[in-house]
This record gives sequence, C-alpha cells and structure tokens, in this order.
Amino acid sequence: MTDTDNVNPKINPEIEQRIAYLRQELHHHNHRYFVLDDPVVSDAEYDRMMKELVELEESWPQFSSLDSPSARVGSPPLERFETVAHNVKMMSLDKGFTEEDLNSFDQRVSKLLPDATNILYTAEPKIDGVAVELVYENGVLTMASTRGDGVRGEVITSNAKTITTVPLRLQQDKHQPLPALLEVRGEIFISKENFKSLNEERSSQNLSLFANPRNAAAGSLRQLDSSITAQRPLEIYIYNVSDATVLKTDSQAETLQKLKQLGFRINPLILFKVPLSQVMGYYRDLDARRLDLAYEIDGMVVKVDRFEDQQSLGVTSRSPRWAIAIKFKALQERTRVIDIQVQVGRTGALTPVAHLEPVNVAGVVVSRATLHNEDEIEKKDVRIGDLVFVQRAGDVIPEVVKVIESSRNGTERQFVMPAVCPVCDKQVFRDEEESVTRCVNDECPAIIKGRIRHFAAKSAFDIDGLGNKLIDQLVDRKLIFSYADLFALSVDGLKDLDRMGEKSAQNIVLAIENSKQISFSRFLYALGIRHAGEHIARILASEFEGINAISAATPESLESIEGIGPIVADSIVDFFARKKNRDTIDQLMKNGITIEKNKTIKDDAPLNGMTFVLTGKLETMTRPLAKKLIEGAGGTVTGSVSRKTDYLLAGDSPGSKFDKAKALDVQIINESDLKNMVS
Ligand code: IVH
Repeated sequence: MTDTDNVNPKINPEIEQRIAYLRQELHHHNHRYFVLDDPVVSDAEYDRMMKELVELEESWPQFSSLDSPSARVGSPPLERFETVAHNVKMMSLDKGFTEEDLNSFDQRVSKLLPDATNILYTAEPKIDGVAVELVYENGVLTMASTRGDGVRGEVITSNAKTITTVPLRLQQDKHQPLPALLEVRGEIFISKENFKSLNEERSSQNLSLFANPRNAAAGSLRQLDSSITAQRPLEIYIYNVSDATVLKTDSQAETLQKLKQLGFRINPLILFKVPLSQVMGYYRDLDARRLDLAYEIDGMVVKVDRFEDQQSLGVTSRSPRWAIAIKFKALQERTRVIDIQVQVGRTGALTPVAHLEPVNVAGVVVSRATLHNEDEIEKKDVRIGDLVFVQRAGDVIPEVVKVIESSRNGTERQFVMPAVCPVCDKQVFRDEEESVTRCVNDECPAIIKGRIRHFAAKSAFDIDGLGNKLIDQLVDRKLIFSYADLFALSVDGLKDLDRMGEKSAQNIVLAIENSKQISFSRFLYALGIRHAGEHIARILASEFEGINAISAATPESLESIEGIGPIVADSIVDFFARKKNRDTIDQLMKNGITIEKNKTIKDDAPLNGMTFVLTGKLETMTRPLAKKLIEGAGGTVTGSVSRKTDYLLAGDSPGSKFDKAKALDVQIINESDLKNMVS
C-alpha cells in the first residue's frame, strides 16, 4: 500500500472509525485487565485487536494520536500506592505470532546492522507474570516497582521483599566491587501448582477466584498489606538490566551470567547466543513443553545478543528494535455455555459438564469442559447461556475458569442437580462432606461401564483394544455385568458387534487372555476401590501377602501402615465387606487370573520405607523416570514436602519445595546421590 492509497477519501472515514473503535475497546479492556484484574476478553482477542490497531496506525499515520492505547505500555498506577519514575523507561516488546514473524524480524535486523553475517540471538521463555524493576544501591535492595505505564510504576518494595527468590542483598564477588546503582528487571509469577492451591483455598473460604496465574500474581503484588503478599507463593526470574553499561558486559548472555553470579534467579531454559535457525527449533520445543512447565509462559522473547548491535538498532517509542516476543496460541478462550449436563462416573459421582459452543483453544477444538461439582458451579456462578473463559492446562480436561458476568442479559438459566441419576433413573444422594452427588445403584450402567474402563486401563489390566465404545456396547447389550465377565467373552459373542468382525474379535479375546497374569499392585488398583489409587495399591501390595489378607484387615491394622489414613482404611474395609465385591474377586480367580507377588519391592530394597519429593529440572532423567527408579527400589514419591519426607531430590531452579525442605531440615540430594543410593 502506498501513501497515496491512504488518502483515498472513500475509505478514510471507515478506517478512522475502526481505529477509534479499537482504541476505545482497548482502553476499556486495559482498565478491566490492569486496574480491575477482571478481564472480559481473552488475551488472544486483546492481542488481535492491538495488532490490528498498530497495523492501521502504521499504515494511516494521519490518524495517529498521543493517547492511543498502542502507545502506552501498561496500566496507570493505582492511586493508593505511591508511584515512582523509572530512571530508564520500561519498554514493551514488539509481538509476533508465527515463525514468519520471526523471520521478518531477523530480516529487519539484518538490514539495519552493518555486519549482518553473524547475528546471534539469545532466546528466552516469555513468562506470563508481572514485570517489575528492582533497584539495588551498593548491593542492597532499596526499591521495587511495577512497570506501570512504563514511565512511572507503583512502589511495591515491601511486597517484593517477601518473595524468597528476590535477593535482598547481592552476592559479593571478591574481584569486583558491587555497582553503586543496579536496576534489574524481571517477571514475578506464581507456579501453576501454587495457583491451583491458592484458588482451592479461596474457593473453600468463599472468596472470588483468580482467572489465571498472572492475575493471581498481580493481585498478590498489589496488596497494601505485605503480610498477605508474604503468604502468596510468588517467584521471580530476572531477564534484563536497565543500563547495560553498569555490569560492564557486552551481551545479553554475559549479562544474564553476571546477574546469576550476583544472586539473581535466571531461567534455566534460556538459550544463549544462537543463530536464527536454532531459535526456530527452540520456539517449537518450548511450545511443545509448555504445558509441562511448572509456570505459564505465553511465548518466547528473542533478543539480539550483542549490546553493540542493540545500540545500532535502537528503539522506537514503544519497544526496542533488537527484540521481539513471538507468542504462542492462547490456552484460554471465550465461549458460551449451551447446556450443562451431568456425567456419571465409575464411583457414581455426578459430574456437571458444560457443553460449549465449540472454540479453538491453541489448536484443539473444545466443546465440553468440566464444572467439577455443584458447589463449584455455585461458587463460579456458571449459568446456562453464560459467556465464559475456558482453559486447557496440562493433561487435565478443559475447565470453565470464569464467567463474564457483565455480558449477561437475563436469559441465562441456573443449573439444577437432578434428583435422579440421568442414566438409571434411581434416586441420587449428596455427600455433604465431599460436595459430591452420587448414584448409589450398583447396577447403574454408567457405573458398570466406568469400572470396566478403569479395570482395562493402561495402569491396571492394560487390555489392548478394549475401548470405550466397545465397553458401551457390551454393557448396553447386557453381554457383561462386571469386569469379571470380560474373561468369559468369546469370539462368537463379540464378532457381531458394531465395527467388529472375526479378526478384531479374536484380537480382543487374545488381549484379554494375555492380561490374565498381573502384578499384585496392578490387580488391587484395577479393582477400583475408592481412594485407592496406584500409590496406595503399591503400598498394600508390599504390606500384604495376598488378597485374602487384605480382605481380612481391620481399619486399625490398615491405618497402622505408613501412608494409609483413616479414609482410605475405611474405604478398603468397606469394599471387602460387600459380598458382591468378594464374589467378583472369586469369579476373577475362577476365570484364571494369576497374581504375581511384587518382585520389585522386597524388605531389603535399598529405599524401602523412604519418602521422596522431587523438585526442579533434573538433568539426566525425566521426573517420571526418577519416580520409577525410586519406587522400583522400594521408596515412595509424594507431591509435597512435610516432616515425613526423608529426601528432597532437587534439580535446577527448584522453587518453593526447596525452601520448605530447608526449613524442615529435610535432606536435599541430587541425581547422582540418588543413583548411588539405589545401587
Ligand atoms: S524483555 C525491552 N524478557 O513481556 C525489553 N520480557 O512486553 C523488555 N516478559 O513487559 C522485556 N519474559 O513483562 C523480556 N524473558 C523476558 C520476558 C519478558 C516475560 C514480559 C515482560 C514485558 C513483556 C513484553
């Protein structure tokens, strides 16, 4: 498009109107997001609007305006906090969304630099948190502030001081005196796990929930009472200094190393000094690992590594020309709840599920999201017809995060938990303690199907080819009534089912036959005893000689076992007290199941009775592998550090579990220690 196109009088009014509309919308959403912490559009929608506005303003400079939201970096500071001017403006980053955008960035950089042959980049995860500046005078933290509008931010010194990963004093290096003034910038965030626990705690206290970890971090930082902040598990990664000359370094990579020596926490996933080709691969890697990371990242930041090059490239009014953020697709999107229906699981629990207008969330079409239970619906106040945010996170099913209440028009309908099971029509009961409503009909087809699915699953009998659709048919056609009946199935009985045939039927029968030899712990897990997951099943398998011994155990004897509490003990006793369950086990045995006593866990196993917690990024093995190694040697792995923990296996950038282990005097070991202990 040329400049003469831009003055075409026919389209100008439309463009001007569009720009005005986008500015007004973005101003509004900025306020909701930054000031009220209560966004009504998804990040992706916001980004799309901002991108459109920036592009329009660039093409139509005659409509530029000083107060456009595109020119402002963030939120205006809140009145109740003191504000401070940043010595050096805290700039924003240009954004891209694709590898093409990254290529054009590289081309722009190459054009502008005198020596374009050897441009190296440092690529960093873009943490989705709150940008802050920390000021150190003669090595002591004297001021912390938020980015605010980039020029002035809010003073949050006492809040920042509560964060364990914010150094209060810099590490002294014998060879170099500490700088008189050092201003570093970084991102304060809260891990996904801590965000979840924080919301769970808030939910139990009937407090409003945070929409995402970033909002939780922002809300926690913006507390006038820093003792509240202190209770929030905030963390920090530092990524920049305001003035590169202070540390006498020549590059971003060197600066980060130096900052690390000074005691700052630097993200261990940063890729230093690489050509563009490697940045691409890194972007794909990060995107693939994103859901497994302990904290949320929303993209990658790429920086021209050499400061000399950064200097030649310079900055625009908004952002440096030497850096770009390449964002990932958002994991949270906005959509509408069309209906709320209940699903009945293997324990009879009725789970309300939101049926949604299908929405593409980072490449996956989401049309259902769990609402957990009645209390959760009440707390989030989700109604049929509501506009909501849905989120994909890790391997869990998508969930409804938050309702956009301001979009209601009065036609929304409240969900009512049915009085009878939607599958078998029998009366349901609510367990107040668990806030769960349950169908208690042992013959309910939904419960039977759920139990069989669990029984055949990978970590139980691992029956290949016995999928959900087949199980549905088998139960609906009354060919089987329990998992024990699986072992009486024949090729003749199966081959006429939908999408079957002789060959598939033979394969299924063979897979069932092959599953008959099973370890004791898998067998116990497969039974589907409530509250007895894989971990408990393993404990039971190592403590008891056989199924008869467990069946005869009292609650007291069970509770005396390390790792088994009263709820689990009662549930086990209750399971074996039911004649129907004992009959099913007998039937399994008659059908030729043979249980192999666990070979791996013996009394003399090296880690017998020891409890481990894992934290941080391990170097030579994945976490599941470490867990396997520990459990194979008789140890147990739990999720959080307590007085009962014997060892904390800590990898790189360990986080809050490390601090807790230190506080409780739990012994901290590394990977090679573990390997030594096992061998
Ligand atoms: S560099 C001038 N590096 O992304 C360069 N930013 O708009 C300033 N962010 O406000 C930022 N991780 O809150 C940089 N490794 C990283 C980052 C990062 C997250 C945030 C930061 C900044 C925003 C970009």
